[in-house]
Amino acid sequence: MTEINWDNAVFAAPMAGTSSRAFREIVRDYGATVACGEMISAQALCYNNRKTRELIDIEGEPSPKIVQLSGGNVDFIKEAACVLREIGADIIDLNMGCPVPKVVRNGEGAALMQQPQLAADLVKAARDAGLPVSVKIRTGWDQKSINCLEFARLLEDAGAAFITVHGRSREQMYRGKADWRQIAAVKEAVGVPVIGNGDIFTAADALAMREACACDAVMVGRGMLGNPWLFADIMAVYQEREAPGRPDAEQILAQALTHLRREIERARFWAKMRGADRKEEDIAATAALRSLRAHLGFYFKGLRGAAQLRNELNHLLRYEEIETLFNEYLQNKAED
Ligand SMILES: Cc1cc2nc3c(=O)[nH]c(=O)nc-3n(C[C@H](O)[C@H](O)[C@H](O)COP(=O)(O)O)c2cc1C
Repeated sequence: MTEINWDNAVFAAPMAGTSSRAFREIVRDYGATVACGEMISAQALCYNNRKTRELIDIEGEPSPKIVQLSGGNVDFIKEAACVLREIGADIIDLNMGCPVPKVVRNGEGAALMQQPQLAADLVKAARDAGLPVSVKIRTGWDQKSINCLEFARLLEDAGAAFITVHGRSREQMYRGKADWRQIAAVKEAVGVPVIGNGDIFTAADALAMREACACDAVMVGRGMLGNPWLFADIMAVYQEREAPGRPDAEQILAQALTHLRREIERARFWAKMRGADRKEEDIAATAALRSLRAHLGFYFKGLRGAAQLRNELNHLLRYEEIETLFNEYLQNKAED
């Protein structure tokens, strides 16, 4: 397994519906040290669910390849970790922060912060596969039960290789401000590397978090949506260079198209792998385009007429149509 280079490390967060193979490649191109794929259900992986296997999509990816598992059952986590080792993962991350009702109802995600002993057992079970195991946590279940400090210590004792702390409780979901003081407290409390997460939207935010928390790395979530350039900006300020900032409209839209093209390529690749004919492959490509529309909309942020662009995009189903929409937009802009 390739070691993580902690020097100026910046992580791209696991985000369901966003952290695809294609997007991970893009953020790495802009300087993300590590890009984690979205959470994978341990149980679904154990049942060899086809979509789950396709979602992992790490073959041929540069190391360190981190796959995040969600699950609250020791046997499923143990088996899923072994499957991930076979597939070629370098590090297994355990999700103990997901706030979504259907996840916590199952005793998974952030619900595990209320079950510290089980959480520690899950780390040990995942470690049986022989790979390093990291954990992503929140500050606690709710504001009355902030326990990230003791919880992180327990995870460290169970053998966690590093810990990511999102500075919000489960109760907060994604509202309010992330409490960076809790991240700093966890960093003080444990000896393993700590990654700080929550509310990094600019390079200055990354610097500020690193300073305030003394964390070993920062992790960017929503700030990277439609903005992979943020990683280049963060790297620049870390190295005391001027941040390049967001490029012009032409480059932004070209990047959005590259993103779309790569998503479609992956969808076609997986369709081919399961023996799809040309028509089924086209259906898979259209589904990939549909599911990327929301993310493409984020690229328009700050562009003149962004709302209209988003509106028009939402009616299009073919790559070529989107390319034409972007070209027309750029042409009209030039004539303004
Ligand atoms: C749409 C969405 C999907 C997410 N999916 C995951 C996930 O699969 N695994 C995970 O650990 N966190 C997930 N998160 C949480 C992020 O990784 C991150 O912890 C959170 O957004 C806070 O960071 P930010 O303020 O930089 O966005 C998700 C967040 C959002 C908004």
